Amino acid sequence: MPAHFTHLHEHSAKELFDLIDHAVLLKKRPFKGRPLQGKSLAFCFMNPSLRTQVSFEVAAVALGGHPLVLSLGTATWQMEHQEGIVMDGKAAEHLKEAVPVLARYCQALALRSFPAGVNWAEDRLEPYLSAFRKYSPVPVINLESATGHPCQALADLMTIRERMNPKKKNFLLTWAPHIKGLPMAVPNSAAEMAALAGMNVTIAHPEGFDLDPEVIARVRANCKKNDAAFRISQDVPRVYDNADVVYAKSWGSIKDYGKPLPSDPEFRAKWMVTADKMKRTDNALFMHCLPVRRNLVVADEVLDGPWSVVIDQAENRLHTSKAVLLKLLSRRPPS
Ligand code: CP
Repeated sequence: MPAHFTHLHEHSAKELFDLIDHAVLLKKRPFKGRPLQGKSLAFCFMNPSLRTQVSFEVAAVALGGHPLVLSLGTATWQMEHQEGIVMDGKAAEHLKEAVPVLARYCQALALRSFPAGVNWAEDRLEPYLSAFRKYSPVPVINLESATGHPCQALADLMTIRERMNPKKKNFLLTWAPHIKGLPMAVPNSAAEMAALAGMNVTIAHPEGFDLDPEVIARVRANCKKNDAAFRISQDVPRVYDNADVVYAKSWGSIKDYGKPLPSDPEFRAKWMVTADKMKRTDNALFMHCLPVRRNLVVADEVLDGPWSVVIDQAENRLHTSKAVLLKLLSRRPPS
């Protein structure tokens, strides 16, 4: 396992499933002792968060560590990531100094950095996360970047595995309406995790909302390796038939990057998750990473109904966060 936890594809399926197994144990039997005693952890946020911020902070305290939650750019100086730049703009500090300085105080650094939403070719390089990785001598955790949300994916698969053996079960990732184009991090990671778990993966989205080809190639390859099916479809609501898991998420278009999403009511109705669509499934789980916009992404009846496991997904963020912290930090005892 590399020193960082930033991208699912850098880890073997076994490493990821071991983390989930550990999280299941931690959920059953909370950790006794203070394995992170004497360790400070900086959780840096460039964007809002409820679950990620709170679950990691609570996890760190429960393990005896000292979490610092930093709003990067507002509570701290605004950060620059470009090398060789004349810093005569808004950013007062370069990550080349800020990251190693934080690492002198803290034994792990974590970053949430959404894409800027203007140029996909630039966003997909994840300049802030890449700078953290480049300049940090201590482990870095990705709390959601332009291309992935690996911590969410761990909690998602844990939630599925609590209810079924995922192998050969049918996983439907469906695009959903929204008021704006959202990052592709969650759908990328959800599809990658389902493929690693041996599920038959269907990705349903409107024309022009293709996920990144590199991610799709990995999902396709892992489905093939696991002898599972993979398809991309626009055939809503038929794609719901026989689904065991329906994972809803909105994301923006790469083709029309940064442009507003279609808002006509017929289009929204076609793609919103409704009880009628869920009734076509094999009593599927309804999953969403949250936050979710009711009656735009998913109807109240589904979110409040027997299908929904969204609160369990959110709870499992806590247990998987503990497993990630223990895995990264148990290798580095305090000096
Ligand atoms: N699912 C998730 O990452 O939630 P937050 O954005 O609230 O952290």
